[in-house]
Amino acid sequence: RVTPLMFEYNLVEMAQKQRQHIVLPEGAEERILRASEMLTRRGVAQITLLGDPAEIRSTASNLGLSLSGIEIIDPLTSALRTDFAQTYFALRQHKGITEKTAFDTVGDVNYFGTMMIHKGLADGMVSGAVHTTGDTIRPALQIIRTQPDVSLVSSVFLMCLADRVLVYGDCAVNPEPNAQQLAEIAISSAQTAKLYGIDPLVAMCSYATGASGKGADVDKVREATRIAKELRPELKIEGPIQYDAAVDAGVAKTKLPESQVAGKATVFIFPDLNTGNNLYKAVQRSANAVAIGPVLQGLNKPVNDLSRGCTVPDIVNTVAITAIQAQAARTS
Ligand code: ACO
Repeated sequence: RVTPLMFEYNLVEMAQKQRQHIVLPEGAEERILRASEMLTRRGVAQITLLGDPAEIRSTASNLGLSLSGIEIIDPLTSALRTDFAQTYFALRQHKGITEKTAFDTVGDVNYFGTMMIHKGLADGMVSGAVHTTGDTIRPALQIIRTQPDVSLVSSVFLMCLADRVLVYGDCAVNPEPNAQQLAEIAISSAQTAKLYGIDPLVAMCSYATGASGKGADVDKVREATRIAKELRPELKIEGPIQYDAAVDAGVAKTKLPESQVAGKATVFIFPDLNTGNNLYKAVQRSANAVAIGPVLQGLNKPVNDLSRGCTVPDIVNTVAITAIQAQAARTS
């Protein structure tokens, strides 16, 4: 089993193998600057910072940080802004956007960074140290859109526990997924697990296990499991299943002795955002787990959201995660 430290080390090593270009829109933020210096020094990614160059340079200098090898772009004065505005206008005209609003919109750092990815000028974006989840990912939902076989952007956390790494989804994006959407979240989460070297054994979590439980919420999970199996017959998936039966071999033996997943699940899919968000935070805070994420999945090119309480190591991990997704996006 992979320990969390090994896992974090492996992420950085994977990212270093084929260096990707990651844009960080919150260029003047202290934690972003510290992480950028570290990422550049260790060759984890090529970094572009967005913001006012004078402010970024003076903040870095006050902190004693080097900006060597890091590009800085000011979206408000960049020569790219006019072209980005035209593209955004063409994409969003049907939503009532005017040329003037398009020009204003792409002056926003998150829209500008997302447009850089859309135009192939960067491979991925990490933001959210200052901005909300919505402000960080809305430009990607509008501009980058979902992969051809995916209708829903969702997310997972890579939960680094004392002795293993588990994948929890969706704990950050979709408030009330229906059965079809829940099935899609399970399939995307299994793919994300694989990308980071985790063999996906998927538990569709509920408050009932197997055929025993009744209720609309249990039925939704049962239907989602059926749909996911139909769409991906090769996927090892079990549901509905309670968390203890999914994770504990003893409980699994009593409740679902024939299951390929019970007792050894690695990917846990929660029925709604209320359950998922509270559960990941409970495990993070009460079991002292490092929660890497949310890792967004289903987008054509990677954009990831930081928590506003993020630390410098969180940013380094998230950039590495994003770079690995960008490597995969290049080959798909
Ligand atoms: N997948 C794909 N596309 C989507 C998705 C999705 N999950 N959600 C929205 N979209 C699309 C819409 O279809 C729409 O496209 P269009 O403009 O081309 O028609 C566009 O994105 C904007 O949609 P809105 O409904 O206006 O979405 P909004 O921007 O209001 O919200 C958001 C999207 C921010 C992700 C919303 O679902 C949300 O707030 N989710 C909860 C976030 C949250 O609070 N998480 C918990 C905290 S995070 C944490 O604890 C780490």
